[in-house]
Amino acid sequence: MTTTPDDVLIRPMRDEDVPVAERLSSHTFLELDLRTVPRSWPEPEGRSPGRAEKWVERTRRQLVTDGGGCWVAELSTDHGVELVGYATSVARELMWVLCSYGVRPGLQGRGIGRQLLEAATHHGRGCLRAMLSASRDPLAVRRYHQAGFTMHPQMYLTGQVDRAVLPVVEKVREGSAGDIDLMNSVDRLTRGAAHLGDHELLLGHYRLVVSDTSTGAGYVYVDGLGSPQLLAATNRRTATRLLWEALAASDPLVNVDIAHVTAANPWAVDVGMAARMELHTSGYLALRGMKPPTPYLHHGSLL
Ligand SMILES: CC(C)(COP(=O)(O)OP(=O)(O)OC[C@H]1O[C@@H](n2cnc3c(N)ncnc32)[C@H](O)[C@@H]1OP(=O)(O)O)[C@@H](O)C(=O)NCCC(=O)NCCS
Repeated sequence: MTTTPDDVLIRPMRDEDVPVAERLSSHTFLELDLRTVPRSWPEPEGRSPGRAEKWVERTRRQLVTDGGGCWVAELSTDHGVELVGYATSVARELMWVLCSYGVRPGLQGRGIGRQLLEAATHHGRGCLRAMLSASRDPLAVRRYHQAGFTMHPQMYLTGQVDRAVLPVVEKVREGSAGDIDLMNSVDRLTRGAAHLGDHELLLGHYRLVVSDTSTGAGYVYVDGLGSPQLLAATNRRTATRLLWEALAASDPLVNVDIAHVTAANPWAVDVGMAARMELHTSGYLALRGMKPPTPYLHHGSLL
């Protein structure tokens, strides 16, 4: 354990820290949005109770599987001890993934984040590859660049899906836990490492759609609105089919997002444009030891 000159202690995260870290994370990202989102965009909102619950469940699980990858920063004041930063990460096969990372607004830019990231990175010391989805915060991007990551801009598409343009989608079916081996194989081919137990978590949170034919295989996790959360496939045709199936399930009156699209995945831009959605950019896919996966739309924290 290390102590900064500012009376900040970096120590392993404990189970009782998780709900406090979640509130800190929600506050930190809301503050970031208020600071950086263009005025013409809708007013930023904090994390919904449903998403907060998922954050806590996911992080508690990561503490069990990857305790060495999860750290907090604790500040001692006259009023007691307060949690002011956190970094959670997992190692999956030869891949290290930074899942969530934040320092309380007002204390940022003073070196707390650097120490947290160093502690979490140590968990991935045996990994050849690393990935994380970086926010648009210049402080975060600087940290990742100094840690040896290459930045790949992320696009996203948003809007209501025009029903008139939906194609007939064939060769897809609902997935289940019985598809985990298949999905791990597709993960290894696309991003170089399987998600392993993360598939169990994702299955509990989202609808799974699978395509498995003689010419290609792939899967997509879809949230309740029809937004894809993680998509991987062995070829573009299969990926395109899965993305259309996700969009087809969306409510025509609700905005859907296709997030985390890198330039290596123009097929996803083609689908979103054909569905008459808007194209924007936000943040970066930060990579070490690998190229942007394709055909692939990464998950924001499990990547
Ligand atoms: C990203 C984050 C966790 C980093 O923690 P931190 O304590 O601020 O990080 P550090 O102070 O160690 O490093 C920040 C770096 O940015 C530099 N910096 C400060 N202000 C800056 C600015 N306006 N523009 C660019 N760089 C800046 C600092 O000097 C430092 O670089 P250095 O080590 O070379 O001097 C924190 O800023 C944060 O919570 N941001 C909002 C949430 C977020 O984006 N999280 C990451 C999700 S991917």
